[in-house]
Amino acid sequence: MNAISQPNAPMGSGPVMPADMAQKLATPAVYATEELHDIYRWLRTNMPVARAEPEGFDPFWVVTRHADILAVSKNNAMFPSGDRATTFVNAAHVRRNHQITGCPHLVKSLVTMDGPEHRQYRGLTQGQFMPGKLRERAPAIHALAEEVVATMASLGGECDFAVDVSMPYPLRVVMEILGVPPEDYAQMLRLTQEMFGPQDPDTAKAMAALDASQYSAIVQGAVDGLTTYFSAISNDRRANPRDDLATLIANAVINGEPIGTAEEVGYYIIVATAGHDTTSSSISGIMWALATQPGLLDRVRADPALLPALVEEGIRWATPVKTFMRSAAEDAEIGGQPVGKGDWIMLAYASGNRDEAVFEDPFAFSIDRKPNPQLAFGFGAHTCLGQHMARLEMQALFEAMLPRLESVELNGEPEFIQSVFVNGLKRLPIRFRMR
Ligand code: HEM
Repeated sequence: MNAISQPNAPMGSGPVMPADMAQKLATPAVYATEELHDIYRWLRTNMPVARAEPEGFDPFWVVTRHADILAVSKNNAMFPSGDRATTFVNAAHVRRNHQITGCPHLVKSLVTMDGPEHRQYRGLTQGQFMPGKLRERAPAIHALAEEVVATMASLGGECDFAVDVSMPYPLRVVMEILGVPPEDYAQMLRLTQEMFGPQDPDTAKAMAALDASQYSAIVQGAVDGLTTYFSAISNDRRANPRDDLATLIANAVINGEPIGTAEEVGYYIIVATAGHDTTSSSISGIMWALATQPGLLDRVRADPALLPALVEEGIRWATPVKTFMRSAAEDAEIGGQPVGKGDWIMLAYASGNRDEAVFEDPFAFSIDRKPNPQLAFGFGAHTCLGQHMARLEMQALFEAMLPRLESVELNGEPEFIQSVFVNGLKRLPIRFRMR
């Protein structure tokens, strides 16, 4: 039996973290608090590759040191993404996916592929995300940034920056690049949220009352809805090719054959979902720093050459993608700790980005880190396809905003999203003066 058909496979022996700690790592609410970092700090110091056995989840290893996260990420042949669930989901979720698709994944996409297949699929659109192509897209992204900043300026000096600015802007950029028309953005957001299943209580309320089969029906309905929606876009782009990502995906050929509908839809879904709340969270992280760190706003306003460092530190500080999962293709070692063939492995990016062995004063937001080897985009074969675009988007926004932003301060308690996967500030009330 391989790991796919045996989701509850026993793990190789090794240091087991305290049960309450493991349970906390499986609790979305903990990810909205500093307690997460207390746990990570303890693990980095005492048990850098630790087994976790929380109730309701298949057991897994948690990798918390920067060097070990990099080593696993670089060796995708030994630590593939697709053999077991690629995101951190509970055992019932894995079983439900098996029932629906016959594998641990609900959707086949770049993050669940490995080896030559992954390289071929990634190669289809990689050029679109490289700096050369992005230079062509830059004027449109700068224009959107100007629009968003103008809206912010019209808000009368107070807003919830996370809701009013950070969330809508990256969604608009990614939807434009995909070729989705503005009137459909809300529908896209709803379908992708339903597909992944909300964890935060604000979005989960409506689904909390549902039983497992009702819940599965919603998820399946969302996948069907996305398939219908994107199939129509693909049909259009086959008939009327344009300079957008949808045209590339719709007309993609691998090994002489057009790609299948599931692969096509998986491609749209990964781009549509990977590119917005991640970038939103990093943007909010920067605004939080500008609002709370005395002198930072004046410094970056006075010297725009500091913008790339501001953006990079914002991404490190926020580390929006908290975890991705791998498994071991063979018996292996991580940081000296043996792990068994088929074991499930969590890469705790947010821990790696606070590793005191790599970052001096890692909890400080500092634009003076040189270098800043943050690993929020992952590393190796699956390193974020959209990382240059994320940086460009963020830089465009602050380039448009900073010359106009005269002051900013907090205007209430910031609040974080409760999620074990992608999180960041959900509320960031600010008071500001803009020219
Ligand atoms: C600050 C913003 C972002 C962060 C922190 C981030 C983070 C990540 C991480 C950690 C991965 C690695 C997945 C893995 O190892 O399995 C990833 C992959 C990916 N990201 Fe991003 N991302 C960001 C923005 C974007 C944007 C703007 C796009 C596109 C519009 C994008 C598209 C993708 C895609 C397609 C993949 C899958 C690559 C593959 O598996 O080969 N991301 N991202």
